[in-house]
Amino acid sequence: MKKLLVTGASGFLGWNLCQLAKQQWEVYGTYFSKAVEIPGITPVKADLREYQEVKRLFSEIEPAAIIHMAAQSSPNFCQTYPDESRLINVKASSNIAGLSADYGIPCAFTSTDLVFDGRNAPYRETDAVCPVSQYGEQKVMAEQEMLQRNPKVAVCRMPLMFGFAPNATSFIQPFITMLRDRQELRLFTDEFRTPVSGTTAAKGLLLALEKAEGSLHLGGKERVSRYEFGRLMVEVLELPQDGLKACRQQDVPMAAPRPADVSLDSSKAFALGYTPLSMREELEALRGNV
Ligand SMILES: NC(=O)c1ccc[n+]([C@@H]2O[C@H](COP(=O)([O-])OP(=O)(O)OC[C@H]3O[C@@H](n4cnc5c(N)ncnc54)[C@H](OP(=O)(O)O)[C@@H]3O)[C@@H](O)[C@H]2O)c1
Repeated sequence: MKKLLVTGASGFLGWNLCQLAKQQWEVYGTYFSKAVEIPGITPVKADLREYQEVKRLFSEIEPAAIIHMAAQSSPNFCQTYPDESRLINVKASSNIAGLSADYGIPCAFTSTDLVFDGRNAPYRETDAVCPVSQYGEQKVMAEQEMLQRNPKVAVCRMPLMFGFAPNATSFIQPFITMLRDRQELRLFTDEFRTPVSGTTAAKGLLLALEKAEGSLHLGGKERVSRYEFGRLMVEVLELPQDGLKACRQQDVPMAAPRPADVSLDSSKAFALGYTPLSMREELEALRGNV
């Protein structure tokens, strides 16, 4: 099997990607602060902010392809610590694209729907970017630098993702804990996304690695508000529903500004064979695991 280098294997999406990728690839998965043990994956510790470490990964592993997911993925953290987060979100990504060009190997990168300002959804790949947060700004910079250094990079704009990983959490785990603990969980009625599960997103990334160059949207087929998502989650996962309450974005001040609707139009990916399940089916598949 050919070698695939996966950055961010210790993260939520990284774990989901490794589960699928190891069926077709010999996978080398990087971690930074959280040592990761995934059966069938060779773990590699690396601080990707250091160019020498990235270079070493390429020269020692000699991968046939790379999927770059490692990031500081919290918009609120990036807003508060822009200089620190830029090193992993922009500099490391740019270096990885440069090396993927030098080695002549395919590279897929996880950008975000937050490159848009939320005023003109649903967004297609051809729409102009207009981020409202530091995190969105950093992903835009990463996209542009990566494509400048290697125009063949598949820049995958990921939607909100949910699911299970033994060593990391997606946004639903704290929600589930709060509801089970009979705490109040307030979710926005005026913030819309096109979510997918980590498994679906991982399938999309593997497809993009094989078939895409440039920007590709990997959103789901349904547009929902956070509150609507919460209602469906409560129903499908049979959670206590008393704590679930509706609220608006303005009711919850946060460090990073939040766009209202960054739903993605992912028809380009659907035409390539990307087939997200319905959100109900995605949640049903998580029963017993979350
Ligand atoms: N989750 C979402 O809903 C969502 C939505 C849109 C886009 N995305 C993007 O999708 C990707 C994966 O997201 P995720 O939710 O799986 O993220 P995550 O769970 O926060 O994982 C982040 C990963 O990056 C690694 N990392 C952080 N700093 C590093 C450094 N200096 N050197 C090497 N590795 C470093 C972490 O390693 P350690 O944990 O070992 O330190 C971890 O493996 C990210 O690029 C994110 O921006 C996510």
